[in-house]
Amino acid sequence: MPARLQNSEATSDTRIRYLVRSTVDPLAQDGPNVVFNLSGSPKKISPIYVYDKRGTDLFERQCATPEYYLRRVESQLLSWYAGDIVELCGFLPIVELGAGTSEKTRILLAEYAERGTRCDYFPIDVDTETLWNSAQELVSAFPFLFVYCLGTTYHKGLRALPPYPGARLFMFLGSSLGNMEWQEIGDLLSELFDSGRRGDYFLLGADLDKDPAIIDRAYNDSAGYGPRSTLNMLEHLNRRYGGNFVTDNFRYRSKYDSRMRRNEVRIESLVDQTVTLTALGITVSFGAAELIDAEVMWKFDPEELGSVLDRAGFSMVHRWIEPIYRYGLFLLRHK
Ligand SMILES: C[S@@+](CC[C@H](N)C(=O)[O-])C[C@H]1O[C@@H](n2cnc3c(N)ncnc32)[C@H](O)[C@@H]1O
Repeated sequence: MPARLQNSEATSDTRIRYLVRSTVDPLAQDGPNVVFNLSGSPKKISPIYVYDKRGTDLFERQCATPEYYLRRVESQLLSWYAGDIVELCGFLPIVELGAGTSEKTRILLAEYAERGTRCDYFPIDVDTETLWNSAQELVSAFPFLFVYCLGTTYHKGLRALPPYPGARLFMFLGSSLGNMEWQEIGDLLSELFDSGRRGDYFLLGADLDKDPAIIDRAYNDSAGYGPRSTLNMLEHLNRRYGGNFVTDNFRYRSKYDSRMRRNEVRIESLVDQTVTLTALGITVSFGAAELIDAEVMWKFDPEELGSVLDRAGFSMVHRWIEPIYRYGLFLLRHK
């Protein structure tokens, strides 16, 4: 085990450690960005505010709805091909970006259970509460697992990774890459490249362009978890910055732009109103029908995605594409 891991902060369970402490609030320095984004035109709230504990709970419920094919299809692909993935990569330590509840990672870990005696797992996630809870569940379920939690942003988490003697498997599932703007995608891939080294693997789950009706249904589930998860951003801002957003005065809007190949989620102000975020010292006015940019979900073209990844330094080892819902798992190798 690398020396830096042995020095990390021990917790009650000896197989869980924090490499970035849970007590450091990952969004502690983000206030100025919130002010900047709410002062622009159009106004914007960063999607990072979707995921506090409540937001993750709502997202998990959305994932369980019949309309939200992404979780179901990606799990299916992993169940079918986990054996092939481990065959191709070997039994490697895992670094996972935006691990969340690590639900799908369990499918791969179940495959690992047959093949080795110790696996180091480095989940990175801003939702530190979910990160910690799932670490505990994972070590109970997998006796060979050692979890090193990085409760922080993708970039800071990648930078805080300890040097590792051999190859690692980096994973980024849930099509979370598609929740960024192209500039951010480029920055993250470059950070990922710099954090790894030749021979590392990268398993990426990415949603693909398809019949817009399937996409529309996924983001407008009849149980309303998608809309509630997005509107929770306002409540998250209230909790964090002493705000007085009234959620009922806003509405969720989701629309797939097939020309751009991206789903766009916005929050619409239903009335003329002002909102104060006391801790940030700002009062913001919203007009009736004004739209706030909230989330984007790119639906990739697999060839274009392959080229972007190739230019970022990752060569394609194999890809598995589910033909009906068109969702892809891409296994890449650090060049
Ligand atoms: C769409 S969910 C995917 C969760 C899980 N990987 C899955 O596939 O179901 C995105 C996860 O990434 C985390 N996240 C979002 N933005 C992040 C960021 N900038 N840095 C670190 N974690 C982030 C969220 O807290 C959430 O758990």
